[in-house]
Amino acid sequence: MSHSGYYDQDAVGDGVRDGRHREIIGGLWDEIGDLQMRFLIAQGMRPGHRLLDVGCGSLRLGARAVAYLDADRYFGSDLNESLIRAGYEQELDEAGRAKTPWSHFGVNADFSFDFLNQPMDVAIAQSVFTHLPLNHLRRCLHNLAPHMARGGRFFATYFECLDGQDLFAPLAQPGGGITTYDYQDPYHYRLSDLVWTVDPTLWAFEPIGDWDHPRGQRMACFRRL
Ligand SMILES: C[S@@+](CC[C@H](N)C(=O)[O-])C[C@H]1O[C@@H](n2cnc3c(N)ncnc32)[C@H](O)[C@@H]1O
Repeated sequence: MSHSGYYDQDAVGDGVRDGRHREIIGGLWDEIGDLQMRFLIAQGMRPGHRLLDVGCGSLRLGARAVAYLDADRYFGSDLNESLIRAGYEQELDEAGRAKTPWSHFGVNADFSFDFLNQPMDVAIAQSVFTHLPLNHLRRCLHNLAPHMARGGRFFATYFECLDGQDLFAPLAQPGGGITTYDYQDPYHYRLSDLVWTVDPTLWAFEPIGDWDHPRGQRMACFRRL
């Protein structure tokens, strides 16, 4: 059984060949791309920082981040090579590709970051763990820790089930008309579930919450100790 439609790499590849690489990663290309950039800059990202985009898809953030960051500062990982390739070839211009070698991308489904050979200052996973059971976030944090600079921050979005809401019932999220579940994609979690993913010797958990996401996703921050 696959966790989400993103694991059907043939179907994703067919969609990319049909020119749908923006829709497949959720559409709202400009709105959510700009939102991520505004958020990261407000959080202190600067052109000299190294940014890892976990589950980078077709570079909705990447196209903007590559333009903003100095050369050799943007990195991405995803399980679908077809999405990364579409983003690299169609969303980056020649100058962007010159700033970002193909070796800056890792393709795998197990959150392996061994393709990184420099410490990251900032990392983000936007709308990635909303599609996955929570042990994936735990694994991501475990694997990412050795590749983050001390004090570096990893931001991850999630759908929240508030205390007092029924964890086991379908939950209508505020704003975007999305219904989430405890056991299937798209998933919701309690804040206390996120705490469970954290090894407190490696990461400090710093909840953020609302960040103006149009579909009601919340933001969590994990700071490398
Ligand atoms: C909704 S899209 C978001 C893409 C990107 N973060 C953005 O905001 O534009 C979710 C992405 O997560 C990727 N993904 C899903 N499961 C993954 C896994 N286990 N490892 C790496 N990437 C994964 C999908 O292939 C897809 O590109």
